[in-house]
Amino acid sequence: MSASKKPMPLQISKDFEIPSIPLVLIKIIQTLNENSGSAKELEDLILHDPALSARILRLANSAFYSFHTRVKTISHAIALLGLNLVTSLAIGINIFDTFTSGAKSEGALINKLWIHSCGVGVLAKEIWIQRGNRGKEGEFAFLCGLLHDVGKIVLFKTYPEHYGSIFAIEKSEEDPCISSYEDEYYGSNHAAIGEILAKNWGFPSELAYVIRRHHDPSATEMPLLRAIMMADLLAKELKIGYDGDHSLNEDRGKIQSRLEFTDEEYAHMTDYAARERKNIERFFKISS
Ligand SMILES: [Fe+2]
Ligand SMILES: [Fe+2]
Repeated sequence: MSASKKPMPLQISKDFEIPSIPLVLIKIIQTLNENSGSAKELEDLILHDPALSARILRLANSAFYSFHTRVKTISHAIALLGLNLVTSLAIGINIFDTFTSGAKSEGALINKLWIHSCGVGVLAKEIWIQRGNRGKEGEFAFLCGLLHDVGKIVLFKTYPEHYGSIFAIEKSEEDPCISSYEDEYYGSNHAAIGEILAKNWGFPSELAYVIRRHHDPSATEMPLLRAIMMADLLAKELKIGYDGDHSLNEDRGKIQSRLEFTDEEYAHMTDYAARERKNIERFFKISS
């Protein structure tokens, strides 16, 4: 990286102001936490937000799900896609929406982050399903993947231009990763900020934990976290979207063995990602 590309140092207070959460999101997260959400409840919440309703319908009608009938109502979308998937989508879309409204020059970068996040969600779910976890479990892996970098959204919102310049730096193998830049300039990083947000907003504790530790090389004890870390690595390596890091900063083989990810799984996932890449990119266009 050339010195000229480095952003000017910025004096930033460590006390981040956690943005307030939209009411509809509080209610949707509550249903997730209490495991009590009914399809009717979710439908009512989504219908209160016309933009969200329109996106869910467009998504349900997209090639990603290739249903044969046209999905015309939210209740039909919930019946076809499932309560958990629609809940996850509603949360992801709502967060990216809330934080990116009004974004100007950095809008294109946030779009790339959204593709990356959708990619990690889709890949994490596939890894998790391949490992024998189905239904609700798979959808939760999707949600964890979708939100693992949510701290970056807070940084974009708080310091749009400055964070945009850090995010956009063409980083080589030798350059520090984006978390190091964040630590240097803001005294904190997106994993720690994401956890604060997750706790403040009442996310399930497992999700908050995944967000906090998804870059921690010593955090290998939790199988779901390992799956998210592997999905993150695959999305970076296969350049599905962009999350502020161009390289892995570590040998892939080493990461793979640390995350207990076999060569067979790796081969399956690269094939899967190649097949699904277009759908993931389309998914982003439909839901943004
Ligand atoms: Fe990250
Ligand atoms: Fe990421």
